[in-house]
Amino acid sequence: MCGICGYIGVNGAATKSVIEALHDLEHRGYDSAGLSRVCEGKVETYKISIEEKPDFTASDLADTIPDFHKPCKMALGHNRWRTFGGINKINTHPHYDNDRLFYLVHNGNVENLKDVEKEIGIWKRYSETDTEAIVNLIAKYYKQGSSFSEAVKRTINFIDGANVIVVFKADEPEYFISANKGGPIILAKGKDFSLLVSDPAPLEKFNITSKAPLESGNIAVVDASGWKVESSRNDNESKKRKKKNSKNNYKHFMLKEIMEQAETFANAFRGRLIHEAGTAKLGGLESLSAVKNVSGMNFSREIRRINRFHFVACGTAYNAGLYAKLLLNRFGIQAEVHIANEFCYSHPVFDPRDAFILISQSGETADTIEVMNEIKIKGNVYLGILNVPDSRIWRETDAGIGIRAGTERGVASTKAFTSQLACIVLLAVFLARQRNMTIDTGQKILFELEKLPTKIEESLKSTRKISAIARKYLEYDNFYFLGRYFNLITAMEGSLKFKEISYKHSEAYPLGEMKHGPLALIDQNFPSFVIIPDDSVFNKSLVNVYEIKGREGKVIALTNKSKEKELKKQVDDLIIFPETLDFLSPILSVVPLQLLAYYTSIAKGINPDKPRNLAKTVTVS
Ligand code: F6R
Repeated sequence: MCGICGYIGVNGAATKSVIEALHDLEHRGYDSAGLSRVCEGKVETYKISIEEKPDFTASDLADTIPDFHKPCKMALGHNRWRTFGGINKINTHPHYDNDRLFYLVHNGNVENLKDVEKEIGIWKRYSETDTEAIVNLIAKYYKQGSSFSEAVKRTINFIDGANVIVVFKADEPEYFISANKGGPIILAKGKDFSLLVSDPAPLEKFNITSKAPLESGNIAVVDASGWKVESSRNDNESKKRKKKNSKNNYKHFMLKEIMEQAETFANAFRGRLIHEAGTAKLGGLESLSAVKNVSGMNFSREIRRINRFHFVACGTAYNAGLYAKLLLNRFGIQAEVHIANEFCYSHPVFDPRDAFILISQSGETADTIEVMNEIKIKGNVYLGILNVPDSRIWRETDAGIGIRAGTERGVASTKAFTSQLACIVLLAVFLARQRNMTIDTGQKILFELEKLPTKIEESLKSTRKISAIARKYLEYDNFYFLGRYFNLITAMEGSLKFKEISYKHSEAYPLGEMKHGPLALIDQNFPSFVIIPDDSVFNKSLVNVYEIKGREGKVIALTNKSKEKELKKQVDDLIIFPETLDFLSPILSVVPLQLLAYYTSIAKGINPDKPRNLAKTVTVS
């Protein structure tokens, strides 16, 4: 959460560069944005919030800056996703201490704010943020005689929680300092400047010659020629306490990313299919043979010895995890799925021969990282199904599968989900071929997988129809999303997407579960989206459709062409998606529901790239 960036360069392009970076960090927070720059030795701070300009962008922030092109060597910028304090300009970063000596941007939550406030002693607040306390603590340590960098170290060690800060000192604007305790930060260098960003998205815009993550536990002193990294650990204190990135011709990143899915899905399996053996080649997993309790053995034999696979994730990635469990079980492989933020409390039972697979688009989700840290302690193998190279989980997992979806900017995850499913199919086939799956079955699955990009294209052609359905049902406030077996996952993902960007109430249920309670809510004002393809559970599902229709419920059915005739008279509306193997069907059935969420959001006048209360990367637990 929150996007942060810093720029220092002899070329004087700090203001423009930070504004450009903020544009590409909008998905990390859009409650408000701010920038502090140092020009000719003087600090200037500018801020904007949705309170004064709903749907603002970094360009609106730029418009508030007089003399925009004045040469400035250094600037820090911030896109805010609020935790402490409301949305307004006062709470917007950068924040400064009472003497206006230090200016700071921050990503994270101070979990021991009361202690921090006590440690500062007497000071005057102007905002409601935890950030203001951080910068005043740095100032306090500085006044006590610590050097600037020592004061930053003492502060980062004093505060609890996952936090990243970037701070400069107004009378020494030749450098800024960043400290990382559990968040994402990337340092990058060009010919005559250094840049710091909390997410790789803006990097493509800059002529970068080298880059490196700032690891948790380190601080970096950054000037125009590069950076110096050192450990921030102070035992005493701590014991005390480019193109791809643009929307092209689409109005929103979300729509662009939905429409890209045929290509991103194909990227996920390109070069990974071994047709002659009916299996997949997952190069990223091969490093597994070089790690801990599976060392010294042939990779295939080692992975074969894993007893059970535990998928761990949040949100959309969790829905992908549910798919993984069902698919592995379908192929006779033991698998479980866990919601990351429940994992540490819920006493999950597992065996030393079990492997954990963390699924995360960003690779920075704090809840998932917490589980990763727990698994490290337990000593089990942990792998990743990940999108962002060099993200925290990417760097720390034993081995993994990259989903290759490219940068995902839409806050509501779409293309990452279908790419996660693609990689899960590859993993499942690879594991099942080691076990009981025949070469013939393996080959059939790979053959069908290759047809899916064309079928996704076909699904994407229904935009007009789906947009009409979105408008038709706009007057309703409550919806069910229902399905059976593999398409229960589509129902869950469809419902999550729908509520997330349309702000309408929706619930996902297994279709057969309706009669055990949820059916009570059905009447003419409570429509249901039912995913009912031509598969082995079609007849059972049809009975449930009758049950809903018999209670005056409206049904919008998502089905295959082969069932169109049969369903037409039974339901209120039909959405057709292409046929495939039953366990691959969510890859196709989810696409119309992504579009439905998108068009409902548009029809309501909501910006789907900036759903309220949410941020793309959830770096707080
Ligand atoms: C929903 C959505 C979220 C994320 C979740 C996990 O559209 O995007 O539910 O899926 O926050 O994020 P990652 O995959 O980055 O770990």
